[in-house]
Amino acid sequence: MPSARRGKEQAIRTYKLCLLGFGNVNRALVSLLQQKDEWLRDRGIGWNICGVASRRLGWVANPEGCDPAKLQDLNPENSGGSGELADDLQDWLRRSRPDVVFEATSLDPDTGQPAIDYIRAALHAGAHAITANKGPVVHAYRELQALAEVQKRFFRFEATVMDGVPIFSLFRESLAAVELKSLRGILNSTTNVVLSGMEEGLSFEDALAQAQKIGVAETDASHDIDGWDAAVKVAALVNVLMGIRLRIEEVQREGIRGLTGEKVRAALNRGCRYKLVCRAGRDGNSVTASVRPEILPISDPLAGVSGTSSIVSFETDIFPGLTITEFNPGVQATAYGMLSDLIGIADREKSSSALATEQEQ
Ligand SMILES: NC(=O)c1ccc[n+]([C@@H]2O[C@H](COP(=O)([O-])OP(=O)(O)OC[C@H]3O[C@@H](n4cnc5c(N)ncnc54)[C@H](OP(=O)(O)O)[C@@H]3O)[C@@H](O)[C@H]2O)c1
Repeated sequence: MPSARRGKEQAIRTYKLCLLGFGNVNRALVSLLQQKDEWLRDRGIGWNICGVASRRLGWVANPEGCDPAKLQDLNPENSGGSGELADDLQDWLRRSRPDVVFEATSLDPDTGQPAIDYIRAALHAGAHAITANKGPVVHAYRELQALAEVQKRFFRFEATVMDGVPIFSLFRESLAAVELKSLRGILNSTTNVVLSGMEEGLSFEDALAQAQKIGVAETDASHDIDGWDAAVKVAALVNVLMGIRLRIEEVQREGIRGLTGEKVRAALNRGCRYKLVCRAGRDGNSVTASVRPEILPISDPLAGVSGTSSIVSFETDIFPGLTITEFNPGVQATAYGMLSDLIGIADREKSSSALATEQEQ
């Protein structure tokens, strides 16, 4: 092995990773870890997947590390080869001893559970917790953040809003001294795809059926169509970026069910577009937030965002207008949000240990 490479190998810290929820997002994360493995090792980050769990898989633990190439075949009928089955969450954490737990279970918008309990247990067990699930951020951000600080661990959630787009880290790091006054955006892709379909001549029902056919919308799309998903995202952004407690019920919410193809096309003929717009505005220590269909002039940057793309525009005390647009994201972008959280944590740990060494000398 060349000496430069050997030097890098010596500096590698291998993180024991556990995946809680093994659907689209965490499976994409495994592929991404494999794809970026060399880059990560060059940055001093090694990894081993020591546990995988889901409702149907149960709690699979393997402290020696699972073979990532075989993980994609893991299914409820074939979990034995990857490790031993633990009895429950606590037993799983005890056996797999993770440094980081990636939580990507299904969203329960009403309670954020059981993901909140999972993250709490991971932090108590001494692991960092990274989630793609908006529920814990909306329902328990302050508690989990405080617990992470007590445990000297990190709670991170970059993938929860606009997939892997660096919004939370942008405000935490580069915009740390900036005050967010308001935000406006399009944060739900299903409704945006349905609105685009109606502009192209379809009825509401046909546009929704088409969105379901191409896999953008779920069979029961009411969560998106009635504005719940967008409201959850607004609440997550407000709770974290404005530091103001906002519950989902406090977001004024109207979905796109009341719109017809005729209405949408009539607006287009007048040079305007219907969009499901998310808004939040700070007023002192309180905030007003809404999700509702609005008619926007074509010249509005939000009007130019169609299909599965999304956009958010921030008004701050320093930057009057700062806009981020995400074009056609895939699940890989969400997985990237989680990977970027891992890289951020590893970098922080590296800096703290370098500082500690310096102080000892
Ligand atoms: N897909 C995206 O692009 C995207 C983007 C941003 C955020 N997210 C968020 O990321 C999370 C995961 O999304 P996904 O697309 O990967 O969902 P998914 O494909 O439906 O996978 C969900 C996983 O969670 C597991 N699960 C559900 N309830 C559980 C419970 N009570 N205990 C343990 N495991 C449980 C499921 O287990 P079984 O399969 O065994 O039932 C499944 O493995 C969701 O919160 C979602 O809102 C997703």
